[in-house]
Amino acid sequence: METSEKKKRIFSGIQPSGELTLGSYMGAIKNWAAMQDEYDCLYCIVDMHAITVRQNPADLRRRTIAQLAQYIACGLDPEKNILFIQSHVPQHAELSWVLGCYTQFGELSRMTQFKQKSQQHADNITAGLFTYPVLMAADILLYQADAVPVGEDQKQHVELCRDIAQRFNGVYGDVFTLPESFIPKLGARVMSLGNPMNKMSKSDPEGCVYLLDKPEDIRRKFKRAVTDSETAVRFDPEHKPGVSNLLTIYCAATGKDIAEAEAEFAGQGYGVFKPAVADAVVELARPIREETERLLADKGYLESVYRQGAQRAQSLAVRTLSKVYRKLDFVVPK
Ligand code: TYM
Repeated sequence: METSEKKKRIFSGIQPSGELTLGSYMGAIKNWAAMQDEYDCLYCIVDMHAITVRQNPADLRRRTIAQLAQYIACGLDPEKNILFIQSHVPQHAELSWVLGCYTQFGELSRMTQFKQKSQQHADNITAGLFTYPVLMAADILLYQADAVPVGEDQKQHVELCRDIAQRFNGVYGDVFTLPESFIPKLGARVMSLGNPMNKMSKSDPEGCVYLLDKPEDIRRKFKRAVTDSETAVRFDPEHKPGVSNLLTIYCAATGKDIAEAEAEFAGQGYGVFKPAVADAVVELARPIREETERLLADKGYLESVYRQGAQRAQSLAVRTLSKVYRKLDFVVPK
């Protein structure tokens, strides 16, 4: 008799709070695409997370659809993966409420992203910004995900998710699968081109490369990338953060390893190295941009993808939520 082993489940998501960046591509999406055959994957556009800081509604709507198009253009096959929009599956918010009742105020106060964002948005520190990691835990636990492929900055949130799941399981038995973060060896923390001590982020347009940037913009940004006063192309994040970041980007874009890239640019200086990194990124981004444009012209298709994605996601989500409600012994309406 044939034994069919159950595939492991993967969940991850990105906020449509800005245009997709090279950082999100290298830290997350690139690895999502690599996992789609081996795992049972759900990839989400987390619009409910995005409103934890003020958004222009029309921009949020446009970016949500554009992000779906970019997921597909980056190689995520909507047949193999469940691609969906978070607000289409109301169970995320419902489970989030329950989990919030099993999360400590102190735990949420320690979250680095909350501390950073509450500094950046000091005039608007909402309860949603504070409880953001609980909604993220709900995203993951709702689908009983085994692994969560993310960049390094999200590791703390995935650990909190595990803690919440463990606490809930401790009281009610085995309800949730405990997820692990999956962090890539290369590209887990792509740094800003303008300040290589800071993470590349959507809110810093000059230090940040967007996947849909035009070639001339990509070239300009790399030309201005901060390096150091030496000339050697060598990987040394502590002493040469700018060059090391460029090497990482080059390797993640070309598939080469660091030693290979160092050898390739030995004795060549930054005047050759920087344009080569820019070219590699231009070639990486070109097909993604072109395919995104093509997909955005076919709104009907994108709509069918997110509709079908929501249905498939919801059929999994209701199972977990009803299990949770049963454990809590809520009265089930007949
Ligand atoms: P977000 O939207 O800030 O980022 C999306 C993904 O991209 C990764 N990333 C980076 N990786 C490397 N270098 C960078 N400079 C860089 N910038 C961003 C992030 O680590 C992330 O993997 N809370 C999440 C979204 C989320 C989520 C989830 C993720 C909501 N629910 C459930 C996983 C599972 C966030 O703010 O990511």
